[in-house]
Amino acid sequence: MFPKSPATRPVPRHIAIIMDGNGRWARGKGLERLNGHERGAEAVRDCVKGCRELGVEYLTLYAFSTENWQRPKAEVAGLMKLLERFIGKEIPELDAQGVRLQAIGKLEDLPASTRKALEAAIAATAHNDKLTLVLALSYSSRVEIVEAVREIAREAREGKLDPEAIDAALLSSRLYTCAYPDPDLLIRTSGEMRLSNFLLWQLSYTEFYITSTLWPDFRKGDLLEAVDAYSKRQRRFGGI
Ligand code: IPE
Ligand code: IPE
Ligand code: MG
Repeated sequence: MFPKSPATRPVPRHIAIIMDGNGRWARGKGLERLNGHERGAEAVRDCVKGCRELGVEYLTLYAFSTENWQRPKAEVAGLMKLLERFIGKEIPELDAQGVRLQAIGKLEDLPASTRKALEAAIAATAHNDKLTLVLALSYSSRVEIVEAVREIAREAREGKLDPEAIDAALLSSRLYTCAYPDPDLLIRTSGEMRLSNFLLWQLSYTEFYITSTLWPDFRKGDLLEAVDAYSKRQRRFGGI
């Protein structure tokens, strides 16, 4: 008999992370919320390295939701500046590691300078093929799905698409994430048990890993722990 191939690959192809807890980390240290976001950037760096070493192909990071625009102006402005600085500074390192940067969300909502930095980094790393790092920015899963449905309805009205031909694969192909496989593993830090409007469609059969560790404290070791837990899961996809 030939050995059966394992049901679960030990290393997830695609990891998605809800990077939460920056504000609580800062408050716990008597610091400003923005200090928490700054420290969070170090966790991002460490996770990218960890994913490269593990051979993960896609890493999607929830960095800013459409709902996050309701936060105080100063926090939003500080976050956008931080993002801009981080992206600019990280290009050489990302490039050296073979990381291709991409972004999903309503990028047109971002301040012009942040968007410019993002577009420059995406162009500068477009040739890399080791790890695709996807930043979810001004992202809302419901908006993503609504826009896809609107596009599909338009095509149907124009006679370019038969409504009977609409299936799950077609809807997937109209989402921002059309070029990526669905995440295998979702990590959320800071202990919250919710999706907060992140990848609702794409996470249908994803394994969840929730840790109480706050995002600024999350390091490669925590990532390895999550991947280790994932490797012990039995994914059944509705089968037995
Ligand atoms: C996550 O940390 C970062 C963003 C949402 C931008 P939070 O800022 O949500 O931190 P908490 O949840 O208030 O601790
Ligand atoms: C989710 O965190 C969004 C990001 C990590 C960017 P939030 O802190 O905004 O989520 P809620 O408000 O606790 O659900
Ligand atoms: Mg939060």
